[in-house]
Amino acid sequence: MRITPASMMEQLPIQFFSTMVAKVNKVISEGRDVINLGQGNPDLPTPPHIVEEMAKQAKDPMHHKYPPFQGRLELKQAVAHWYKQEFDVDLDPEEEIAILFGSKTGLVEICQVLMNPGDVALVPDPGYPDYWSGVAVVGGRMVPMPLTVDNQFLPDYGQLDAADLEKAKLMFLNYPNNPTAVNAPFEFYEETIKFARKHEIVVCSDFAYGAISFDGKKPVSFMQVPGAKEVGVEFYTLSKTYNMAGWRVGAMVGNKELVKLINTLQDHYFVSLFGAVQMAAAKAMTDSQDCVRELVATYESRRNALYTALHEIGWKATPSQGSFFAWLPIPTGYTSAQLADELLCKAHVMVAPGIGFGAHGEGYVRLGLLNTEERLREAVKRIQKLQLFTK
Ligand SMILES: Cc1ncc(COP(=O)(O)O)c(C=O)c1O
Repeated sequence: MRITPASMMEQLPIQFFSTMVAKVNKVISEGRDVINLGQGNPDLPTPPHIVEEMAKQAKDPMHHKYPPFQGRLELKQAVAHWYKQEFDVDLDPEEEIAILFGSKTGLVEICQVLMNPGDVALVPDPGYPDYWSGVAVVGGRMVPMPLTVDNQFLPDYGQLDAADLEKAKLMFLNYPNNPTAVNAPFEFYEETIKFARKHEIVVCSDFAYGAISFDGKKPVSFMQVPGAKEVGVEFYTLSKTYNMAGWRVGAMVGNKELVKLINTLQDHYFVSLFGAVQMAAAKAMTDSQDCVRELVATYESRRNALYTALHEIGWKATPSQGSFFAWLPIPTGYTSAQLADELLCKAHVMVAPGIGFGAHGEGYVRLGLLNTEERLREAVKRIQKLQLFTK
């Protein structure tokens, strides 16, 4: 029998990170010691008190049955508690919080509940490639919002085409930003809310790195800004804050109607996450946040080590404000893909080429602060040998 996939399958973008992993694995299989700074997978383990809670909860037969549809109230209350404690934001656990299988899933689902084929989604360029996936699944059209250094890597709404705005149903924003590592100011979100109201565009704030910011500056949650709940939602994940990427827990918070739509769609996909995972996630969000402060201090110290080393070899770049990435302009004479290949083949250092995040990512590479300070320094030392920079 001939299997004929749906045409949607052909529209799915090639998973950028899977291609990258294949390249690294090839070089490793040749016996090379590769320093992989190309991916966004947290390198440290989940704090022990969360793992212990999981072990305890996994033994409770209550969780061996189906969990409640739309997730456990304990986890929704924990998310509400976390938003109140960290950002002084009030959320109704029952109506303004939806539990997600990691935020990646929610980013696709939000497109499914809002967009019809041909509708437009505004996406940051450069941006996290998974926004493209959701838009492709629904047969939508992406309109890039260029993020340039001249505009502090924030979109300039004045540059967008009126015809595109007419067709736009939603927009993705992501600060602290992957890949550019900048934070967004409060005023930017005020402007965003005005823009969203005027053009009736749902704002989807991806707050995956909401807990990771440096130099004593706390990121702004979109939910802190008056009017945010009227025009949109925020996606939060435990993957980065608590090194729980493998656990697949996230939440979408904000606008009640959107929460209801996502919950309705999820009722058709699945029941909910394993109850023990939800209880352990609730513990993570309500217990002491010392582990988060320690993690942020670790990333900050790695950032400092990396930028000091880069500065010493003459690679000039503005230090990251948040997230766990470094966004570095590349030397002239290379495309970002050529430079990434050169660094992998000759220095055995894997970085992500900026072009993988969109056309405006060209001219940059992204490095993850997801290795020890020693390995980060070693990576820079290896790069120095290629003599790409003059001091
Ligand atoms: C900007 C951004 N959003 C969302 C995610 C997805 O996180 P998760 O699906 O683990 O919640 C990531 C992961 O790398 C990310 O970088």
